[in-house]
Amino acid sequence: MKLIKVKNKKELGERAGAIVAEAVKAMPYIVLGLPTGSSPMPVYEDLILRYQKGDIDFSRVSTINLDEYIGLPATHTQSYHYYMDETFFSHVNTDPARTHLPDGAAEDPEAECKKYDELIDKLGGVDLQLLGIGYNGHIGFNEPSDSFSKRTSVVRLTEDTVKANSRFFDDAAGVPEYAISMGIRDIMLARKIILVAGEEKKDIVDIAVNGDITPRVPASALQLHRDATVILIQG
Ligand code: F6R
Repeated sequence: MKLIKVKNKKELGERAGAIVAEAVKAMPYIVLGLPTGSSPMPVYEDLILRYQKGDIDFSRVSTINLDEYIGLPATHTQSYHYYMDETFFSHVNTDPARTHLPDGAAEDPEAECKKYDELIDKLGGVDLQLLGIGYNGHIGFNEPSDSFSKRTSVVRLTEDTVKANSRFFDDAAGVPEYAISMGIRDIMLARKIILVAGEEKKDIVDIAVNGDITPRVPASALQLHRDATVILIQG
């Protein structure tokens, strides 16, 4: 696993944005795996700037997001659908027919997981996966566990994750406890992976990069990937 240390959010955005831009240029029909949260924000900002300068065209790109909260409709301001529209999609020329997130409001979440896996298969898997990391080492919402998850599933968020996520909610009681998340298998099958992390994640990044490979630290699986790069802010 390659570790790149950068000084600040702007540099993180530029480094990761450059990798994404190069990949999109080389492969206009690329499938990008996308995260939400605060860590990837500078990357989306960088990609928007590149789009505004005419340096990148997203019209043929497919995107597949890692996760969505169960119980939140796409219109909810804390849903990941809403985040993606606000943060990225509405600022670039992605084709809405090619942007995908799990439906957190699906009547049957298990059936939704199956549908999402079929979609991943139909797209031929992820070419370039962008990731954040939780304080407990989760990637997507694959929480520490006894075994690595395989495919998309309904996950119960740990208390710590619910607490961390509550910073975005006005009412902490309204933070969902369940989510639909793509599994470790499909993340690991991505041809290229970039994980971005702020300075506050340096301890867990160190454990994920240098520690044992264990489902107790889901991001440690990335040590087994051929082409995984971690971009960490270390001011
Ligand atoms: C969200 C996701 C999560 C986040 C992680 C870090 O789509 O996949 O794994 O990347 O919880 O969140 P932030 O960046 O907000 O600290």
